[in-house]
Amino acid sequence: MTFCREESVLIPESDLDGMSGDTLAVRAGQVRTGQLEHSDAIFPTSSFVYASAAQAAARFSGEEPGNIYSRFTNPTVTAFENRIAAMEGGERAVAMASGMAAITSTCMALLKAGDHVVCSRDVFGTVNSLFQKYLSKFGVETTFVKLTDEAGWEAAMRPNTRMLFLETPSNPLCEVADIRKMADLAHAHDALLVVDNCFCTPVLQQPLALGADLVTHSATKYLDGQGRCVGGVVVGPHALLEEIFVFLRATGPTMSPFNAWVFMKGLETLPIRMRAHCDNALELAQWLQQQGAVETVFYTGLPQHPHYELAKRQQKAFGGVLSFRVKGGREEAWRFIDATRMVSITANLGDVKTTITHPATTTHGRLSPDDKEQAGISENLIRLSVGIEAIDDLKADLDRGFQALQNPGHGNI
Ligand SMILES: Cc1ncc(COP(=O)(O)O)c(C=O)c1O
Repeated sequence: MTFCREESVLIPESDLDGMSGDTLAVRAGQVRTGQLEHSDAIFPTSSFVYASAAQAAARFSGEEPGNIYSRFTNPTVTAFENRIAAMEGGERAVAMASGMAAITSTCMALLKAGDHVVCSRDVFGTVNSLFQKYLSKFGVETTFVKLTDEAGWEAAMRPNTRMLFLETPSNPLCEVADIRKMADLAHAHDALLVVDNCFCTPVLQQPLALGADLVTHSATKYLDGQGRCVGGVVVGPHALLEEIFVFLRATGPTMSPFNAWVFMKGLETLPIRMRAHCDNALELAQWLQQQGAVETVFYTGLPQHPHYELAKRQQKAFGGVLSFRVKGGREEAWRFIDATRMVSITANLGDVKTTITHPATTTHGRLSPDDKEQAGISENLIRLSVGIEAIDDLKADLDRGFQALQNPGHGNI
């Protein structure tokens, strides 16, 4: 059998320069072995062998590039890293075992005792715990500010502020921060801006191009898109990513090759999935607005949303997550949720299957009543992560919720 060298059958990475995100999602980062497989191979191996002791020494000293041990290098994981880096427009990516591992490693690698962080109050709740409960133990102090309170961010800056951390759009009320302005603020104080780009993905928003220093992802969400694996990744310039890579090598929050392969496959369909999520979410938001039992709909694609113009400028589309308040309180919200039959009652998001959540008693359940009120997490709020099912079937299922609100005695028909 004749084997071709991989370079002769793959598009060289340099030829991908300037290609659209849709193409990078399918082509960037691919490795091909001598078997000439069309779909990416998985390398489920913990270590790698050398031709000689001298080669092993050269690998370990860094004189010769190449794989050593899968805690820190594995070809499947590297392929996923290269693909997401290309899509985000970053120089390099480091994959991790989860989104939280990516955020924790970024902080541990780049912050030290005596540093100060300004963090959006409207981030994923566990990020709050990370800063409040754990980084504080290592002498890193954090000030929390409402995502959209630009004056508040400015006032929170101190001479020792080294990092600004935010997630935009926010979960679940879809508030949007101006990434360019936040990057300018960070840089004026010699600090880094880190943006969690989980909700938009690089298909809708590229924070690095808007001045952010680092992007983090929970790959668990849209990057996978089918709710199969937990993973995370950080993307940005070589110099910062090298620090994060060295931390990963020392501490081991490693992504498995199998998960990396699933995420590679997920990225291939990310652009078309995101378009379908956005189309369905916009149509549902407009439809929900017309329902008599709905008090408010939160979706940046609605012109009356306070951040409609900013989202239109900063994002390619408005995303797949929306939330709405039904008239009433917890009882009505739960009755609505329980009357649905097709959408999944679960807290995950970014799946092709639509998910429905009651934030006040699940994702945001640990917030104090005061914090919930400040964050707008009322008892009558329902979040939808809109999937890619047929829009009429989604409306029909949600309509069961509205029927149950109209006829409380027939909640579960
Ligand atoms: C916006 C956002 N960032 C980060 C995370 C954490 O990711 P993971 O669950 O993969 O650790 C989540 C998880 O739900 C999230 O929603």
